[in-house]
Amino acid sequence: NVDLSVTLAGMTMKNPVVVASGTFGFGREYGQFYDLGQLGGICAKGLTLNPREGNPAPRIAETPMGILNSVGLQNPGVDAFIAHELPFLRNFDVKVIANISGNTPEEYGIMCEKLAGAGVDMIEVNISCPNVKAGGLAYGTRPELAAEVTQMAKSHAGKVPVMVKLSPNVTDITLIARAVEEAGADAVSLINTLRGMRIDVNTRRPILKMNTGGLSGPAVLPVAVRMVWEVAQAVKIPILGMGGVSRGEDAAQLMLAGASAVAVGTALFADPYAPIKVRDELGQIAQRQGLTAVKELTGQVKPW
Ligand code: DOR
Repeated sequence: NVDLSVTLAGMTMKNPVVVASGTFGFGREYGQFYDLGQLGGICAKGLTLNPREGNPAPRIAETPMGILNSVGLQNPGVDAFIAHELPFLRNFDVKVIANISGNTPEEYGIMCEKLAGAGVDMIEVNISCPNVKAGGLAYGTRPELAAEVTQMAKSHAGKVPVMVKLSPNVTDITLIARAVEEAGADAVSLINTLRGMRIDVNTRRPILKMNTGGLSGPAVLPVAVRMVWEVAQAVKIPILGMGGVSRGEDAAQLMLAGASAVAVGTALFADPYAPIKVRDELGQIAQRQGLTAVKELTGQVKPW
């Protein structure tokens, strides 16, 4: 009986739990486990203008506290998504968020135009993939370039809200958050993965062929909470919080820090039902705290 609904940049969701881009594919595998309409939203796997094979393997390395990946944006391309995956996702009562990466600001513009025309509910502009240069670390760590990409996306997305996905691989994330807000972003999502490395002590080689990758999972939750808290104080636009969420308490921390909604990513690999569990536990926490709606958690961390 707690109201689970939230609004993110004008997009209303039945609950605040989204699945994070790159961890849910296009939903087809998860559709066997439960009705995808139980989720608040689905961030589809990251798209580029043309199909991509991604980086050479090995490109996944497990660690005790999280997963390193150097996938490098393997995907079928934006046109294949619109033709084959979006129609499947439209069978469910769930918000669909397309995640895009470009080699140039112009490529972001072209993809936004295609996706807005196809009727996605929101576009997540990825400027923070740690495994590619253009579109990844180059844009996500420089305020002027982050702003340029945001402007280009906004001017081609029509009425579709644009959310910019921020990198944790920076000294001051509020500089990037402010730059994209000023450039017209409707929301920000954070965090993408944190650069890391694992070495095989016997062969003395890095596990990943690319040497380094992006860390996700429980290890990054405190980093995500800190960065959401910092960004919430720096900007007025809403925040989709993510990074190591596997329980309601994790999601509640991100919401108290300032997130309007939360995404579950790496936890899906151990448990496909993780987002459903997070949703239910979040409702229980709100109820225990005497709230009538989970959205009352947002930004309500108390100062010492
Ligand atoms: O960790 C990540 N890996 N973040 C991204 O944004 C993209 C992905 C990849 O494909 O490398």
